[in-house]
Amino acid sequence: IYGPERRNSHGVNLNIRSHYQPLMKRMADFMDVTYRARPLLAFDVADDAAQLKTVTSPFDRRKQVGSVQWTTKEQASKALDAAWAAFPRWEATPVAERAAILRRLGDLMEKHMAELMTLCSREGGKLLTDGVDEIREAVDFCRYYAMRAEETFGEATELPGPTGESNRLIMGGKGVFAAISPWNFPVAIFCGQVVAAAVSGNTVLAKPAEQTSIVAHRVIELLYEAGMPRDVVQLLPGDGPTVGSVLTSDPRITGVVFTGGTDTAQIINRALAARENAPLPTLVAETGGMNTMIVDSTALPEQVVVDVIQSAFQSAGQRCSALRVLYLQDDVADRVIEILKGAMNELRIGDPRDLGTDVGPVIDEDARKGLNAHIEKLKGEKRLVAETPLTTEQTEHGTFVAPVAFTIDSIKALEHEQFGPILHIVRYKASELDQVIDDINGRGYGLTFGVHSRNESFAAEIAQKIRAGNVYINRNIIGAVVGVQPFGGMGLSGTGPKAGGPHYLLRFATEKTLTNNT
Ligand code: NAD
Ligand code: ALA
Repeated sequence: IYGPERRNSHGVNLNIRSHYQPLMKRMADFMDVTYRARPLLAFDVADDAAQLKTVTSPFDRRKQVGSVQWTTKEQASKALDAAWAAFPRWEATPVAERAAILRRLGDLMEKHMAELMTLCSREGGKLLTDGVDEIREAVDFCRYYAMRAEETFGEATELPGPTGESNRLIMGGKGVFAAISPWNFPVAIFCGQVVAAAVSGNTVLAKPAEQTSIVAHRVIELLYEAGMPRDVVQLLPGDGPTVGSVLTSDPRITGVVFTGGTDTAQIINRALAARENAPLPTLVAETGGMNTMIVDSTALPEQVVVDVIQSAFQSAGQRCSALRVLYLQDDVADRVIEILKGAMNELRIGDPRDLGTDVGPVIDEDARKGLNAHIEKLKGEKRLVAETPLTTEQTEHGTFVAPVAFTIDSIKALEHEQFGPILHIVRYKASELDQVIDDINGRGYGLTFGVHSRNESFAAEIAQKIRAGNVYINRNIIGAVVGVQPFGGMGLSGTGPKAGGPHYLLRFATEKTLTNNT
């Protein structure tokens, strides 16, 4: 792919470098900019050195991206006053106007793609290819939700009734939403939450992840440029327990749209439930997974390995959809493992801004420590199958974790989601399949799942029995596309409805039935 120009049978140039070259030239303008992000609230916020945090790059902590001023509790509370006051006006704004703002934001993000991608890389450690996918997904969310909102919140639905009585179903917003997002999709998920809540007629307080507030700040600047009123969407950078908990404990919050760890979702759920004199809350939570793939003896080993490498190691395994446990039927296991070892040997770990890099850093030192502790434990148990080594430079200056594969006995051996480039392999015999399915379902997560088999009825049966939100047959299990593969899990993996799906906006809506006896 990285060689000289190579075209496929449709004449499409497959040379990634030539596709990315124009974008990379524009990205150069943003490689050395020092950013200064701050709360973007309905009122002006003074400089506050005590709240200033320095942001450096995960691939080299000597490189500074800029600084972020975190939101104080008092500012968060005042922002809530403004959001509360703005809600009736915003809800009454015609949906076509609200949707037009989203479409303009989509256009602006496309225009500023090079800058947003550079920030995803510098601040979040994302590969350039992941950066392109990320910004495209955010643009898709804007356009998709704009279209869905016009269908959902446009004309009231006329309903049948007895003569002399009219019945109409009118859709509205709910109130003030807190949108709390993770660092691993700092544009797509951050933006998707905010625009879904806002286009449905709600005012929004957006709390981005601590690690990726600068790129979130840039997106909200573009949102204002697109015409979003400042009291309708406000940005509150800060840490979860401080800013997040002010929001989730306040009775004026009608709903929370959250993406992140299952444990954090449970904390938020409890905080919302503990409020007194508060509306019964809406919680949309998209959380972690222990994503599994089952490979039977009819599968094509070469294809399995391509899909496993992408699913487990792309984005350094830092996708909620990433593959964590690979179940290999005994008859095919040795062959798959042999090819997998070869493929892992070829992985290039390094600077995410270099197009030749396959695996970038993990997000921060806490993440690295946690992953390395798990790796050391399994190495101690002599379970290592393959490891792609790191250089001293990567270990000293960046937060890199070596891609690794281990054997384990069952998914039940894993206590937590390991959010990084760690693959666990379990061998199974055909006679054990029912137990395998029980073990996977019994673990309680249900986000993504894959099956590789050339036996169609086997694949269909497994896909039907596994409880997971996104099931993929004979392909990788990452990279759901808005409007094509609505994304989200069940059980410990989330409440639903699915992001990028036709029912998502309904969770942000109220329904009023108006009966008029004329
Ligand atoms: P996290 O749960 O640590 O943090 C997510 C957000 O919650 C951050 O903005 C954080 O500041 C905030 N937060 C933390 N404590 C809080 C509190 N007490 N009250 C309110 N807010 C609080 O998750 P993370 O490390 O940022 O992201 C990784 C996790 O996200 C993984 O578990 C991954 O599987 C999950 N994830 C899920 C999906 C999905 O669609 N299902 C998508 C992406 C990531
Ligand atoms: N939607 C993202 C994926 O499918 C999380 O990888």
